Amino acid sequence: MDLGLKDKHVLITGASGGIGLELVRAFLIEDAKVTATYNHSRDALDGIQENSQKQLAVVKVDVREESEVKSLFEQSQNTFGRIDIMVANAGIANHAPAPIHEMSLKQWQRTMAVNLTGVFLCSKYFVENLANHHGNHASLILIGSTAGLFGEAWFADYATSKAALHGLMMSIKNEIVHVAKKGRVNLVNPGWTLTPMSKEVLTDSEKATRILQTIPLRKTAVPEDIAGAILYLASDKLSGHISGQTLTVAGGMEGRVLYSREDLESDVDEMIQR
Ligand SMILES: NC(=O)c1ccc[n+]([C@@H]2O[C@H](COP(=O)([O-])OP(=O)(O)OC[C@H]3O[C@@H](n4cnc5c(N)ncnc54)[C@H](OP(=O)(O)O)[C@@H]3O)[C@@H](O)[C@H]2O)c1
Repeated sequence: MDLGLKDKHVLITGASGGIGLELVRAFLIEDAKVTATYNHSRDALDGIQENSQKQLAVVKVDVREESEVKSLFEQSQNTFGRIDIMVANAGIANHAPAPIHEMSLKQWQRTMAVNLTGVFLCSKYFVENLANHHGNHASLILIGSTAGLFGEAWFADYATSKAALHGLMMSIKNEIVHVAKKGRVNLVNPGWTLTPMSKEVLTDSEKATRILQTIPLRKTAVPEDIAGAILYLASDKLSGHISGQTLTVAGGMEGRVLYSREDLESDVDEMIQR
């Protein structure tokens, strides 16, 4: 099916990671022009570039730095022109659990700097690019997380940074239409997805069991599952009347398992005997 993405210019941040790399592949298959960003290593992207040099530009950016983000947008507009679609996908998660009373301000600020300020900066320059280049259509897709919906004990920094994206989306969906009449903004919340970010958890059988207990489909996602939802929201043909929506891609996930059976034994006895 033709999604109408041919020659659209798509900017994907965090394109060297698990979900981002799959997005690059998916948009190139649709013959889009892709600007793909990385922060530390471009190795994974170089594998793709050999076959698609004309349609792919790879740029290094640290999304926490306004000067780097500004320069990313200047470079990518010089290469492929107006950016029609942006997927704000770059993100970090801390691997060590930290209860809030032990979480350092440094950790909190580091997570916010990438996951929230980084998305703000990229959204700012994406909308500025729309203001500078005439065009009716545009799609901005923010990448949140089920952590932003359900919270995540011991990872309050990450959950809060992702929940805040809802407010950002709901605000700029009403602004974007002033610079691109049919511009749309949506939020995709992936659930657990097998990538370098989550591999440690998803390959631990005890943690994986706990996770699957809340997922009716009894599986976690692979990056292709998330890319499908993003292609849908990028395509005006498929979702041209959808803006301000959250699409959760998590196999029907209900939330969190808080306690094991053993944790609850004495509480259950007490409750039954009341
Ligand atoms: N995997 C999951 O289970 C899951 C679940 C829910 C939501 N998500 C969200 O989905 C998005 C992609 O996650 P993923 O699983 O694909 O993670 P990943 O494999 O760890 O990739 C993260 C990407 O973000 C980039 N990045 C990190 N810090 C950056 C910075 N300061 N500036 C610019 N880029 C930076 C990384 O670049 P370098 O590698 O070059 O540093 C990498 O390309 C994230 O926003 C994540 O929070 C993931």
